[in-house]
Amino acid sequence: MFRKFLFVCFLFLGNESVNGLQKWGTQFGQAPLLERFFWRALDFAYPDEASRNFAMMRGEFIPENALPVGIEIWRNKLFVTVPRWRNGIPATLNYISLDTNRGGSPKLTPYPNWAQNKAGACGSAITTAYRIHADVCDRLWVLDTGTIGIGNTTIQACPYTLNVFDLTTDKILRQYRLRAEDINMNTFIANIAVDLGKGGCEDAYAYMSDELGYGLIVYSWEQNKSWRITHSYFMPDPLAGDYNIGGLNFQWGEEGIFGMSLSPIAANGYRTLFFHPLSSRREFAISTRILRDEQLSQDSYHEFQVLPERGPLGHCTSSVMDENGLQFYNLIDQNAVGCWNSALPYAAENHAVVARHDTAMIFPADVKVNRGLLWVISDKMPVFLLSTLNYTDVNFRILTMPVRDAIAGTVCENSPWGYVSNSLWWE
Ligand SMILES: *[C@@H]1O[C@H](CO)[C@@H](O)[C@H](O)[C@H]1NC(C)=O
Ligand SMILES: *[C@@H]1O[C@H](CO)[C@@H](O)[C@H](O)[C@H]1NC(C)=O
Ligand SMILES: *[C@@H]1O[C@H](CO)[C@@H](O)[C@H](O)[C@H]1NC(C)=O
Repeated sequence: MFRKFLFVCFLFLGNESVNGLQKWGTQFGQAPLLERFFWRALDFAYPDEASRNFAMMRGEFIPENALPVGIEIWRNKLFVTVPRWRNGIPATLNYISLDTNRGGSPKLTPYPNWAQNKAGACGSAITTAYRIHADVCDRLWVLDTGTIGIGNTTIQACPYTLNVFDLTTDKILRQYRLRAEDINMNTFIANIAVDLGKGGCEDAYAYMSDELGYGLIVYSWEQNKSWRITHSYFMPDPLAGDYNIGGLNFQWGEEGIFGMSLSPIAANGYRTLFFHPLSSRREFAISTRILRDEQLSQDSYHEFQVLPERGPLGHCTSSVMDENGLQFYNLIDQNAVGCWNSALPYAAENHAVVARHDTAMIFPADVKVNRGLLWVISDKMPVFLLSTLNYTDVNFRILTMPVRDAIAGTVCENSPWGYVSNSLWWE
């Protein structure tokens, strides 16, 4: 992968305004990275100016404390999550209407409403949501960590609770509190993957990665039951804990299993879950045949596969795989998004950078693919956490790029024999 980077010259082509949207130039052929939305600081759609002012006066809304970390797209809604790391976050689960907002810096609307975003209202509201998932059955899967604060300031206000919404009615379909045995003293879960099997909408499992407690929690929708899996591959590589991002050097040495993505369903009826610890350059893989079976998942050490390293500067938090087996992942050290076509072996030479921008993509916190469009949110997270954001500058951006254009001319474009569905190489 590194060799490839030497050949590619990242050229800042400047930005031009197209239909009122910022169009950031990238070096990859015709593929433009379109800046859909940008914010200096986040704002929320209060019913009127007076209630917004009142909330600010009471410290219920402190604009500089809000950092967006996760996105999801469902029909005309673009969801944006904002963890309660500091005080003054009025809502953690929010959306922007894509019908009424074409660009600019829209205010976030709490989802499904303000009341269900009240901090610490255990059982009736969501306290903190990180990454979320909308499935093809029109359900939104939201894990509420129940936490307020970050690092050593964290208060566990409510228990870890999985909330599943019906997006067509905005009603909660299911609320499931993780069992005491599912978590431990160090638990920190910021990512979820949702696995729909051959059995349709009822045949659903959620996988939740415990980044600091080093576990994977499985929830079966049908059984309404959860279990925890442990494996040494969930742990960080002690040599991979040093980071240089946004002009800052810092160490996140304890960060274990984080990003996950699921392959299409293979011939055997199961998907493969790809996952990686954050402080690591490696990807690992496990069949959902193992994860879905509580007994099997407890005693299948050797079923977990080790894939080759991505290469240097390969730290990654979020990944996603589309229905063709094309994986996209953020490269947080490189202000970039990478791709891997799973029809090819997971080798460094089969990876490519699809977009990189040293201003617009400082810490691409989440990546999603929806109807052929790649979505990325960048938020300068390390600057927020370790220094201070400059609020006269743009800090948060939501960028899009057609998948077809993103991979054009890269190794991720169809392999010589095309996508080989149901006979993927890792089988
Ligand atoms: C909490 O963490 C911060 C930053 O790592 C540190 O400066 C502070 O001393 C810690 N506080 C406590 C009470 O451990
Ligand atoms: C799922 O299990 C929890 C207990 O863990 C229970 O409170 C809840 O009612 C169950 N939900 C359904 C739909 O069975
Ligand atoms: C903050 O950002 C603005 C706009 O980009 C810039 O002009 C200014 O120099 C920045 N301030 C600092 C302290 O970096």
